[in-house]
Amino acid sequence: MDDTGVILCQNFLDELSEAITLCAPDQLFVLTDENTHEMCLPLLHEIDALTQAHHIMIGAGDVYKNLKTLSNVWQALSDQSATRHSLLICLGGGMVTDLGGFAASTFKRGIKYINIPTTLLAMVDAAVGGKTAINFNGLKNEIGVFQPAFRVLLETEFLHTLDAHNLLSGYAEMLKHGLISNYDTLNELLAFDLANTNYNQLKQLVGKSVSVKEIIVKKDPKEQGLRKSLNLGHTIGHAFESLALNQQRPVLHGYAVAWGLICELYLSHVSVGFPRDVMRRVIHFIHENYGSFIFTCDDYELLYKLMLHDKKNKGGIINFSLLTDVGELCLDQTATQSLIYETLDFFRESMGI
Ligand code: GLY
Repeated sequence: MDDTGVILCQNFLDELSEAITLCAPDQLFVLTDENTHEMCLPLLHEIDALTQAHHIMIGAGDVYKNLKTLSNVWQALSDQSATRHSLLICLGGGMVTDLGGFAASTFKRGIKYINIPTTLLAMVDAAVGGKTAINFNGLKNEIGVFQPAFRVLLETEFLHTLDAHNLLSGYAEMLKHGLISNYDTLNELLAFDLANTNYNQLKQLVGKSVSVKEIIVKKDPKEQGLRKSLNLGHTIGHAFESLALNQQRPVLHGYAVAWGLICELYLSHVSVGFPRDVMRRVIHFIHENYGSFIFTCDDYELLYKLMLHDKKNKGGIINFSLLTDVGELCLDQTATQSLIYETLDFFRESMGI
């Protein structure tokens, strides 16, 4: 384990038992959603410490990442007389770890929690780095706190049950980590065959990817500067995600991020000189694996408005995290409305639409 509490598991059950023992909780709670309750919880049954655990199950999906579900979790903790010495284990994807982390961080002003992410997206991003949240007022992750988990246990065996789309969704965040770190990591990621997943190799890539994030979070846990680099691809990616949701054709978060990366690499190229050949290689990989996101110029205005909601913005100015080269960050950049529209034109041309 490193000093940020993230463990790439070699023996998951032992490592979880050790983490629980170290916490020495007076009561133990396990939070799952309907899916992880059925698919993942049985894998934990051998752990003695969990025989007395209280189970809290919530609905699966982002639609349940709200105040009502949060209140149900607080209620369950309160009904079972949880104390400040109780421990919450969050077993699930990013929705469970975000909401569970927030519930734990606020109950009695904060109890310890352990994240066990079960999706690739949660392993390489959501469950690591201490961001907790629920959606509010139609906005994603609008309410939350920064509060790191006591431990994050990465058990890549869970990935065997993940469908191809969710695997790709998480992989987009790994591509982002490659772009903000170095050429070796990026090249390794671009060479990985996602159609015939080698899970041993994927485990190594997950370990490397998470360490990129951890190094950044350690230097800037509350996103005052450097951590903004983790938003590469997300300013436009979130706008794509919201547009798709508004038009009742939701897309997975990582797909929107992958398409957002294409746009923000173009912006990086034209604004701060990111190399064209690398941009082209990344676009090719994304187009091959993620396909296209279809929209027309009639959607530009709404996409622009959605970008104005980004959490990094200040004073109504859209804030982008760009790159001058792989691993060379250029934070707090902005772009005119006409350059953003040009970027959307470029995206549609690259996708052949
Ligand atoms: N998902 C970006 C961050 O954790 O900062």
